[in-house]
Amino acid sequence: MRLILLGPPGAGKGTQAQFLTERLQIPKISTGDMLRDAADDGTALGRQAKQFTDLGRLVPDEMILDLVTERLPQPDAAAGFLLDGFPRTVGQAESFSSWLRDRGLSLDAAVDLKVRDETIVERISHRRVCPECHDTYHMLTRPPIVDETCDVCAHKLVQRDDDRAEVVRERLRVYQERTEPVISYYRDRGMLLEIDGERPVGEVTEAIVAALARGKGGQL
Ligand code: AP5
Repeated sequence: MRLILLGPPGAGKGTQAQFLTERLQIPKISTGDMLRDAADDGTALGRQAKQFTDLGRLVPDEMILDLVTERLPQPDAAAGFLLDGFPRTVGQAESFSSWLRDRGLSLDAAVDLKVRDETIVERISHRRVCPECHDTYHMLTRPPIVDETCDVCAHKLVQRDDDRAEVVRERLRVYQERTEPVISYYRDRGMLLEIDGERPVGEVTEAIVAALARGKGGQL
């Protein structure tokens, strides 16, 4: 199955991707995680991308397309993948559609998580992440077992550099301007599944799985 997860910052894309990859047995490919890994590793791409991510701006399309089109042909993604955080502009969506078409592939669905702005601000302010394995926590609703420590790999949890209030405001502005049109792009092609992301994590996962089972047509 080839899927895209859409939704504003803090909507729960990464959280759902974690559960969906287990349920659907497909790898999660998160452009945000890839960029943060590159920045932590100090690569040229990582340093360049951080100049954008720290300000809440989008990384240029060419950099992202290179990253994604190098990752997708890897063997673990041969039977499908779940894209978290890509595409984020109509240009990325169009290039990705061409990339799929050139390989005789198609997308099964684009899942859009609907969440209100006040929920986003609340979720992001309580978020902690593991810089090593990318597990995500919410200090009130999904705290780690041991304080500030990742349940999976025991690394110390951190707050993301782009989770500061002023950067979150910019990310939301950029989302509305650049990424909301991507939702229309997939709706117009009959690929969009809209899911209420306000419910508890497990209920959202079940709603996505049920919507996927009901099916959605379309070829990209
Ligand atoms: P990225 O890492 O993709 O960030 P984002 O899209 O802003 O999304 P987030 O990771 O902030 O949130 P999420 O939806 O994954 O929510 P989460 O599951 O963590 O991108 C970062 C930056 O990289 C971008 O700003 C941009 O600069 C750059 N970038 C990345 N991709 C790019 C691209 N394609 N093009 C250009 N630039 C790109 O959940 C949030 C919190 O809520 C957590 O604490 C979680 O535990 C909690 N939570 C989740 N679900 C629920 C629930 N149902 N109920 C209660 N709590 C919940």
